[in-house]
Amino acid sequence: MRAAITSVAGYLPDDVLTNADLEKMVDTNDEWIRSRTGIEERRILKDPTKATSDMGAEAVKTLLEKRGIDATEIDLIIVATVTADMHFPSTANLIAHKVGAVNSWGYDLSAACSGFIFALTTGAKFIESGQYKKVVIVGADKMSSIIDYTDRTTCILFGDGAAAVLLEPSENHGIIDHKLHVDGNGANFLRQKAGGSLFPPTHETVDNKEHVIWQDGQPVFKAAVKGMADVSYDIMQRNDLAPDDVAWLVPHQANLRIIDATQRRMGLPAEKVMINIQKYGNTTAATIPLCLRDWESQLKAGDNIILAAFGGGFTWGAVYLQWAYDTPQS
Ligand code: COA
Repeated sequence: MRAAITSVAGYLPDDVLTNADLEKMVDTNDEWIRSRTGIEERRILKDPTKATSDMGAEAVKTLLEKRGIDATEIDLIIVATVTADMHFPSTANLIAHKVGAVNSWGYDLSAACSGFIFALTTGAKFIESGQYKKVVIVGADKMSSIIDYTDRTTCILFGDGAAAVLLEPSENHGIIDHKLHVDGNGANFLRQKAGGSLFPPTHETVDNKEHVIWQDGQPVFKAAVKGMADVSYDIMQRNDLAPDDVAWLVPHQANLRIIDATQRRMGLPAEKVMINIQKYGNTTAATIPLCLRDWESQLKAGDNIILAAFGGGFTWGAVYLQWAYDTPQS
């Protein structure tokens, strides 16, 4: 028994933050951002009363509508996020409440930009064991809540968004293999330092801007290129997949140059790579399911798909799956 994705949906806030807008906020320019990252614009959740769970709940509602099932049928909701509404309760808890998934339990999983593939792998196990029939995996992040919009090295990269997939049992298609990694030394290069138990919030941590993302871009870039390219190549090798066998690469959307390096290492032509970074920037846990949503109409049952990610922590990995359906549900 395999766990197959049987529906996908997403939610993006309406407000657009363009490179031209950022030029008015920090010392940057459209040409630099496009050529170094591939990003042209990103979405921002401006409503101060809304948070990650609201975006995630919208994605889950659309997901259920598309599949034609009721929220009460969901067994489990796993939410990948680094921008939980609160430290507790979990975002999964709040989403279950907002969509009416009264028979579900759930939890959050923290693996930054690799969160979706970590959560997908974890959720699949509950299906493969035969215990559950319907598991919802959400990738959602309100990155604007942890960005310093005076820091040009980070504020240009990120956007807000959410997407969700439904996992159900399948005898033919579904998730076949995964290769996932963590390296805690990555905390020295990319982190949100304060707000946890090591540096609880104080006036000083706020004044020092320690509640926002900080990164040393170049070491992160180098580790991402190597991590994502190597793991994607490795998963092809151990499943005897030649470039011709792979229908699609679904890479985490952090930087177009990281995606290009992964594509080259896998020996894939550009038309097999899903890229929407120009529209949404890096939405952290939401990038991969948002790609699946945007390309859903082009996917066919039996397509071999590699999902690949690299993120803060460090975390990285790849998932190999076979797509389960031809026609998107209306
Ligand atoms: N606009 C204009 N100039 C900028 C800038 C901006 N937004 N941000 C940095 N610069 C400047 C730097 O100050 C530096 O100037 P200097 O040469 O005078 O010192 C110059 O541009 C080059 O900076 P550098 O950091 O070497 O650029 P880069 O090519 O490494 O690109 C990143 C920077 C952040 C785009 C790149 O390192 C990256 O993508 N890293 C990985 C980030 C990531 O994906 N994080 C999430 C984890 S998945």
